[in-house]
Amino acid sequence: MSTARAVTPPRSRELPAACAELAARLHATPLAELPEHEVLRLSGRYDAAVAGPDTDENEILRLLTRPFSRRLDIPEYYRYTGLHVAGWYFARREDPYQAGLLLVHALVTDLIGLEEREAGLHETTVEEGAERVLRLEAVLAHLGRSPIGPDRTMASAGLVRLAGHDGVLIHDLMVVNRCSGFRRSDKHDEHIFMRAVQACEIGFFLVRWTARRATEAIDHDRAEYVLRMSQLTWAAELLNVVFHALRTLTPELFKGFRDATGSASAVQSLNYHLMELVVYGYDERKIEIYKGFAHLAPVNDPVLREFTSLRDAAAGARDADVREAFAASEAPLHVWRGRHYGFGRRYLPDMTGSGGTEGAGYLKRFVGKAGLPSGERIDDAERLLTRFAYC
Ligand code: HEM
Repeated sequence: MSTARAVTPPRSRELPAACAELAARLHATPLAELPEHEVLRLSGRYDAAVAGPDTDENEILRLLTRPFSRRLDIPEYYRYTGLHVAGWYFARREDPYQAGLLLVHALVTDLIGLEEREAGLHETTVEEGAERVLRLEAVLAHLGRSPIGPDRTMASAGLVRLAGHDGVLIHDLMVVNRCSGFRRSDKHDEHIFMRAVQACEIGFFLVRWTARRATEAIDHDRAEYVLRMSQLTWAAELLNVVFHALRTLTPELFKGFRDATGSASAVQSLNYHLMELVVYGYDERKIEIYKGFAHLAPVNDPVLREFTSLRDAAAGARDADVREAFAASEAPLHVWRGRHYGFGRRYLPDMTGSGGTEGAGYLKRFVGKAGLPSGERIDDAERLLTRFAYC
């Protein structure tokens, strides 16, 4: 499934030595405490890797040091989450849906290993740790049930086993694991928070991608519509399964690292706002948010605003079951928004959000999605469909 496979020999399962050393140091350092001269040094290393030749080492160094760049205008959320590394991974794959499943699988498997090691270190956390591991294993079980064809799931197609034979893919998954997931604090629980954000971002992307495919198929290709809607429902449910695992983070544990994350807020998430645009259409109630961050400008672009949303396309469909399929797929997204509001209330009672909003109250306003009719259906879906969005 890798685009590079035909032309590139299998790559090492290790990072080049200089990169492995830097990755290990970044994983072991609470980044909020990095002294200014260290940040400047990393920023300089990024510039040198960009200016240097296209070697394996420079490619990985660019991924590792980009979040520290003083030259690039990177929104805080993206400096924190390292989603450029997921973007690099997706750009190298042919089938974004299967690539997304395998990436979530790799990130969660790695996290389970970390949680098991931590549980072994501290007796008092054994019970909580075991519960967290169970819930993370439920994420893996959910992945196994993902439809990848009319009669095939990720598990029945043996996708993970097959991936084990693809050297380029294994290498790239290892790169995402090693070159992202750096914590700003020294708190163990920041790991699950970070990986939950990354898994949800992949979920947002898969919802958007399947929603566009489903929209195109309405009234043309029934089998395609049914498959894409079942994948969309599955991806929306993934968000809830991930939130269930994240719920093992208590408000006290969350407070232990929240300040270190600074002004990194997922309100800056391009994948999220683009997903909403494709599923529901343009939400003009959020105009101030879109205007508040330069990188969200595309969401305000009149061309994108005029896309027909999946909701509008399904509502205009000939068959009642097409309309009903939309309602069934949308339900888990609605649940996620409700639970997210619950997170805001539980973890940040009477506190403003890191994205500059009023906090839980902001989330509450958007649990229900209002009318917001969209424009004509257009066929140029490239920009929206094929790219994992990050800054
Ligand atoms: C302890 C867990 C969490 C809490 C307390 C929380 C809280 C909040 C708050 C207060 C906001 C409002 C914007 C702001 O001012 O920052 C927000 C927005 C947002 N959060 Fe979370 N969040 C949590 C976990 C997550 C996770 C794991 C994701 C996954 C990516 C996520 C995705 C988002 C998105 C996409 C928005 C923008 C929503 C919109 O514009 O409608 N959140 N969150």
